[in-house]
Parts: sequence; structure tokens; C-alpha cells
Amino acid sequence: MAARYLVPALAVAGRAVAQSCSNAATTTIQNAGDASALASCTTFSGSIAIATGTTDSIAINGVQSITGSLVATNVTQMTQLSADSLTTIGASFTLADLTILSTLNFPRLSDVETIDWEALPALQGLSFTTGVQTANALSIVNTQLNTLDGINLQTVDTMVISNNPYLEDVTMQLGNVSTSMLIYANGRNVSAIFPNLEWAATLVFRNVSAVSIPSLASVNNSMGFYSNFFDTIAAPNLTSVGGSLSFVSNTDVTKISFPELTTVGGGLQVANNTALETIDGFPDVKTVSGALDFNGAFTSVMLPELADVKGAFNLQSTKNIDTACSHFEPLSGENNVIKGTYTCSGEEASPSGVTTGSGSGSSSGSSSSASSTASSSANAVYISGASGLMGVVAAIFGML
Ligand SMILES: *[C@@H]1O[C@H](CO)[C@@H](O)[C@H](O)[C@H]1NC(C)=O
Ligand SMILES: *[C@@H]1O[C@H](CO)[C@@H](O)[C@H](O)[C@H]1NC(C)=O
Ligand SMILES: *[C@@H]1O[C@H](CO)[C@@H](O)[C@H](O)[C@H]1NC(C)=O
Ligand SMILES: *[C@@H]1O[C@H](CO)[C@@H](O)[C@H](O)[C@H]1NC(C)=O
Ligand SMILES: *[C@@H]1O[C@H](CO)[C@@H](O)[C@H](O)[C@H]1NC(C)=O
Ligand SMILES: *[C@@H]1O[C@H](CO)[C@@H](O)[C@H](O)[C@H]1NC(C)=O
Ligand SMILES: *[C@@H]1O[C@H](CO)[C@@H](O)[C@H](O)[C@H]1NC(C)=O
Repeated sequence: MAARYLVPALAVAGRAVAQSCSNAATTTIQNAGDASALASCTTFSGSIAIATGTTDSIAINGVQSITGSLVATNVTQMTQLSADSLTTIGASFTLADLTILSTLNFPRLSDVETIDWEALPALQGLSFTTGVQTANALSIVNTQLNTLDGINLQTVDTMVISNNPYLEDVTMQLGNVSTSMLIYANGRNVSAIFPNLEWAATLVFRNVSAVSIPSLASVNNSMGFYSNFFDTIAAPNLTSVGGSLSFVSNTDVTKISFPELTTVGGGLQVANNTALETIDGFPDVKTVSGALDFNGAFTSVMLPELADVKGAFNLQSTKNIDTACSHFEPLSGENNVIKGTYTCSGEEASPSGVTTGSGSGSSSGSSSSASSTASSSANAVYISGASGLMGVVAAIFGML
């Protein structure tokens, strides 16, 4: 009786291990044969992982849709991963610690729930002909990618692009970012270009050479520019920022231009932009609900429409700012435009910002000390060390 079943069993073994097209757990691919055994699965219901010891190039050909995740982590001997027909990955496309992976060929891929790639030191480009247009979360950290050609999202919840030292261009058709986008520590000459971006919850740009956000109309939460290399930053269509707006340590910036901005729901911080002499980029700002905190080496400050600062007002510069001080001082008195502590001080050896929390020193020579305010100062969403999606979560919830 057993003999009757022997023949089909051997036939299967002769091709490869038979693979089912569904698996409630994860199907693990060990070699090229395991991958080609999936070719008859138009839809694979479940997740697929590549075993860490895999040395073959893996081609998951024929499969059009994977309902779960596609995962390759710590597969240190695999050079190529491809899928000629795959259009959709229902959950995560996770690649991590793939030391020699140099070819990623997914010509049809367009929809992925999450892209989470980290530590791909041999990956220089993508062969994604159609291009990924839909992903809720995207994290690309520590790769050798030169471009993101092949990834052009229309909307995203969270996006992190960091530590890709050869990346020179991040251009996407993104219309909105519902949670956050962080771009930092990529190529020295990287441009961040978002021609269609209309609104975003949180945006953080660090170490970027150019930022283009011509359509941005509102930022629901916060936006910050830190240690960038651009000489001009403009948001020509931005009218409101729900939280804080920060410009810190952009050492080359000589012009900030936010001509339509009227309200800032948190702090407005312009700090340590050492080449910025004239702060005239906020001609329509009326309301700042946190602290207004400018310190640096500027000589003039123009805020002609300023009508309400709920937090502290701090201007400190290494240069003489007597003209600005005599203009703003009356606003802290009977006019009651400035509700918090007023500080205005020029020719400071080390201009300082509004301190939050208690007891830190005030600079000598200030006309009054910069004191804490209950309102938020422009807190940095800074995530040094943290990376990937956890970094975004940490940054949003202020855990780091
Ligand atoms: C990576 O895989 C190797 C064996 O292939 C194993 O020794 C090592 O512990 C794994 N590293 C991680 C971080 O999982
Ligand atoms: C987000 O952007 C996409 C692409 O531009 C657009 O289709 C969608 O309507 C936008 N959603 C909202 C809520 O603005
Ligand atoms: C930086 O990029 C700009 C274009 O964005 C290009 O003109 C310039 O040559 C690049 N500089 C370097 C050093 O690569
Ligand atoms: C990148 O930005 C971080 C944080 O703002 C800063 O500490 C770092 O020095 C910058 N790196 C370069 C190369 O400018
Ligand atoms: C700027 O905003 C106006 C109205 O809010 C809109 O009509 C216009 O298309 C926007 N400009 C850009 C470049 O998006
Ligand atoms: C952000 O603001 C825009 C424009 O006001 C709005 O359409 C969008 O729904 C807001 N997004 C969130 C996540 O609140
Ligand atoms: C500005 O630079 C000074 C001196 O390098 C530093 O102590 C201070 O923390 C910086 N301020 C901000 C807001 O980064």
C-alpha cells in the first residue's frame, strides 16, 4: 500500500521541495530551488523569508502577490534577490544586514505596506521598473543607494531616509505625509524635492543641501531644519504650522523666506544660523503660540505683523541689534503682544536661546534673563542613534 504513494513523492522530490501557495506561518526559502518551486503561485498567502545561510541568488519568479511579508535579514552570502512578476507585498518588505546584496530586481513592484531596509552596504541601485507608488511606511537606512529611482510614493505615513552616504537625490511626488518624514545624514549634496507636497504632520530635514517644497500649504505638527548646507530655504505657500518651526545651525543660510506664514502653534526658533544677517522671512507672521526665540549673528529682525506671542520673546545676537530691540520692546509692555519673558540683547559673546526647564544660566549682559516658559520651545525631533521605524516612533513620542 505504501508503494503506491512512493512514485508521486519521488517525482516531487526530483524537482524541488513542493511548496504550497499558502502558509499560516512563514515559508522559508533556503536556495534557488525552493524559490522556483513557488512559480505556480500567482498569489502566495502568507509570508516568505530567506534563510540566513542562503548562498544562492534568489528569484521568486511567477508570484504576483505575497499577502504577508517578504523578509531577508542577515543573509550575508546572498548577492541577488529578484521577483519578475511581483506587484504587491501585503505587509512588510524587510531587508536587513545583507552584506553583499548588490542586485534588487523587482520590475513590477508597485504596492507595499511597509518598506524597511537597513544595513545594505553593497546595494547601489534598484531595478524597479514600474516603481513603488504606495507604501504606508518607508525606512531606508544605511545603504549605498545613489538614488531612490524606483520608489516614488504618492502618500506616506512615516518616512525615514538616513545614513545613505551616496544618496544625492530624494525626489517624490508625495502629496501628503500623515505622520512624519525625516531626512538626515545622507550624501553631502543631497536634494530633497517634493513638488506636490501640500501638507505634512511632521517634517525634519538635517544635513541636506537643498529643499524644495513649493506647494506645502500646512504643517499640522512641527517642521525643523537642522545643520543643513543650503543657502536659501523657502516655503512660498506655507500658511500655518500647527506646532513648532525651527531653523538651527544651518551655517550657510543667508535667506529664509516664508512669505505667507501667519501662525505658528508652537515655538518659532531661529538659532545658530551663523551666516544669517537679516531675519525678514516672516513678513506675515501674526501669532506664535510658543516662544519666539532668535539667536545668532543677525543685525536686523523684521516681524511687521506680529500681534501675539504667547511664550517668551528672546532675541540675542553677537551683532548690535539696538534698532530691533527698540522696535520690539514696546510690544512687551502695555501693548501686551508679548506675553512671556522679554529678552533682547545684542553684542553677546555667546547668544543663547530660551531655556526650557529650570535653573540654567542666563548669559551675562542680557537686559533680562531668558527664563523658562510653559509653552513649548521649538523642540527638536532629534533621533541621533535611533533608526528605522522605531526611530520614527521614538521621535514622535519624544522618547529619545
Ligand atoms: C547572522 O547569521 C549568522 C549565521 O549565518 C549567525 O551566527 C549570527 O548570529 C546572525 N546574526 C544575527 C544578528 O542574527
Ligand atoms: C494625499 O495626497 C494624495 C496624492 O497627492 C491625494 O490623492 C490625497 O487626496 C491626499 N489626501 C489628503 C487627505 O489630502
Ligand atoms: C551638487 O549637486 C548639484 C545639483 O544638485 C550639482 O550641480 C553639483 O555639481 C553637485 N556638487 C557636487 C560636489 O557633487
Ligand atoms: C548632521 O546633522 C546633525 C544634527 O543636526 C549634526 O550633529 C551633524 O554634525 C550634521 N552632520 C554634518 C556632516 O553636517
Ligand atoms: C499655493 O496655494 C494656492 C491657494 O492655496 C494654490 O492655488 C496654488 O496652486 C498653490 N501653489 C503651489 C505651487 O502649489
Ligand atoms: C493636516 O492638515 C491638512 C490641511 O489643513 C488636512 O487636510 C489634513 O487632514 C491634516 N492631517 C492630519 C493628519 O491632521
Ligand atoms: C548653538 O551653538 C552653541 C555653541 O556651539 C550651543 O551651545 C547651542 O546649544 C546651540 N544652540 C542650538 C539651539 O543648537
